[in-house]
Amino acid sequence: MSSEGKKKVILSCAQPTGKLSLGNYLGAVRNWAEMLEKNECFFGIVDLHAITTPAKPALLRQNVFDCLAQYIACGLDPEKCHQFVQSHVVGHTELAWILTCITPIGELQRMTQFKDKTAKLGFKATHSDGDDLKFSHEGARPQASINAGILCYPVLMAADILLYNADQVPVGEDQRQHLELCRDLAQRFNHQYSETFVIPKPYVPKVGSRIMSLSEPTRKMSKSDKNERATLFILDEPDLIKKKISSAVTDSGSKIESNSEKPGVANLLSIHSALSGQNTDQLEEHFAGKGYGVLKSELTELISDSLQPVREKYHELIQDKTYLKSVLAQGANAAQKRAYKILGKVYRKVGFPERDRT
Ligand code: AMP
Ligand code: TRP
Repeated sequence: MSSEGKKKVILSCAQPTGKLSLGNYLGAVRNWAEMLEKNECFFGIVDLHAITTPAKPALLRQNVFDCLAQYIACGLDPEKCHQFVQSHVVGHTELAWILTCITPIGELQRMTQFKDKTAKLGFKATHSDGDDLKFSHEGARPQASINAGILCYPVLMAADILLYNADQVPVGEDQRQHLELCRDLAQRFNHQYSETFVIPKPYVPKVGSRIMSLSEPTRKMSKSDKNERATLFILDEPDLIKKKISSAVTDSGSKIESNSEKPGVANLLSIHSALSGQNTDQLEEHFAGKGYGVLKSELTELISDSLQPVREKYHELIQDKTYLKSVLAQGANAAQKRAYKILGKVYRKVGFPERDRT
């Protein structure tokens, strides 16, 4: 409960860019499901974010329903929370624009995810004597260019959160920096125009907040990885889980321990820990004297069993488009109601004149 005795408002979102990964599940969605009882929860499917990388329209539309069916299958009971599509709610882009006007470009250029994404396109970003980033095009893929959406995306994310005056935002470790920016923007707005926004707090789980790629364990597991063996998806069938876990990169040596020199083994242990609830010490003791093969086969079984109910529920739900649409319609209504209230307040503070409706 917040200080006024009201329920806390929780908000989080994921991009409909494909099937949810085990990282999405452990770092985000399954933790959301634990917050439904005590809080007022809003969970977004952020399609406006998804077009920062080129998306085929028919696939994007399909991905939105897929994402919803997976949300519900992971425990987001529509009777207990509001699930909505970002483009259904007026206010996200409007607020994003207002926030853009109080965001220094340099802060966006410093975001780790922005630097990673531009590096992926082959651009090299270096700081000049001033604080600005310079992009060298040497080595860039022919015709590659960085769209402004990739740069401005954290402002849209801040708007997603502030539009609902969310108290808490449960996310994985990779979103911490974006959340810091959101808090800065809220404070800047409040300072410039008077108290308006709640300053949202991140909630990053202790275990599972950064699941790494199975083939390159020094990189984050990502649902858009080109390497098929790198990412486990929550809908993967047991055979495929077995294949991916058996081919997961481990490290030289044979001792099962969680240390930074063994990122592959440490990653498998952290997946185990997130699913079994046993801490690292308990797991190291449990696996003492056993080989990587034992760890992998035990983990395969643990993942397959834990995700079985999610898979089954998803396959049932995805057949029922009418139901999914009704969940989104109700979610959009509730989200819009709250969003309009806060957007109206923001417009007044900024000095936009009220429209005469007589
Ligand atoms: P995205 O797939 O980028 O839309 O992410 C949705 C949510 O999943 C965000 O809260 C992320 O922080 C979280 N997430 C994504 N990848 C991982 C990962 N490898 N480990 C833990 N959490 C993750
Ligand atoms: N940027 C987040 C990601 O890629 C997704 C996101 C968009 C989000 N808006 C949000 C997460 C608001 C939490 C709150 O994972």
